[in-house]
Amino acid sequence: MSDADAQKRAAGEAAAALVENGMVVGLGTGSTAAWFVKALGARQLDLTCVCTSEVTAELARSLGMKLGELGDTREIDLTVDGADEIGPGLSLIKGGGAALLREKLVWEASKRCVVIADAAKRVPVLGQFPLPIEVVAFGHKTTALRICDALTECDLGVAPRLRMKDGQPVRTDGGNFIYDAACGRIVEPALLAEALKSVTGVVDHGLFLDLADQALVGTPEGVLTIEP
Ligand code: 5RP
Repeated sequence: MSDADAQKRAAGEAAAALVENGMVVGLGTGSTAAWFVKALGARQLDLTCVCTSEVTAELARSLGMKLGELGDTREIDLTVDGADEIGPGLSLIKGGGAALLREKLVWEASKRCVVIADAAKRVPVLGQFPLPIEVVAFGHKTTALRICDALTECDLGVAPRLRMKDGQPVRTDGGNFIYDAACGRIVEPALLAEALKSVTGVVDHGLFLDLADQALVGTPEGVLTIEP
């Protein structure tokens, strides 16, 4: 196992120890979240799990975990999920796994959100990882031009790229497309978040601001706990 994988695993296992019997738990998406789901499944607690993607739901089902729908209960007790970047104040970039919309819906419905990651995900400024932006498929090229304008307004002169796989645009679980914007340095993430949300056709973006309550980061020295 690579060092990064060992750190992801340690963070996922530490997060699984936070879960208590009877909780409603949000299950994130990605390789780090998968370690959390496996560790949680092994504890055999009486839980209801709300999944942030079909891939995670499949994993949770294979482990015999009980699944619920978002909205079955007013609030989720705890959500644990990975991130592509962890910046100052636990600002995050997410969506590398194309699950950002369901992730944000689940995070926003949660009393507490814990982000888990390997040490390489910590950055002084967000933006090295291209920012995923989920858009409605209809008219997506026009929406992309308007995203470009929004980025320019924020002094980020980059052209977002349509995410492709096997020669086809990647479809999210909701059937939308993803554009990735290689911003470089996002100095004012809140302004960018607002500008992107104002574009018709943008469903959501991968900036998760003021949502994470805690980070558990795997490092060579052990799991580090970070508060905003
Ligand atoms: C999926 C995500 C993931 O949490 C993010 O991409 C991190 O993935 P990994 O744990 O595999 O590094 O946001 O949409």
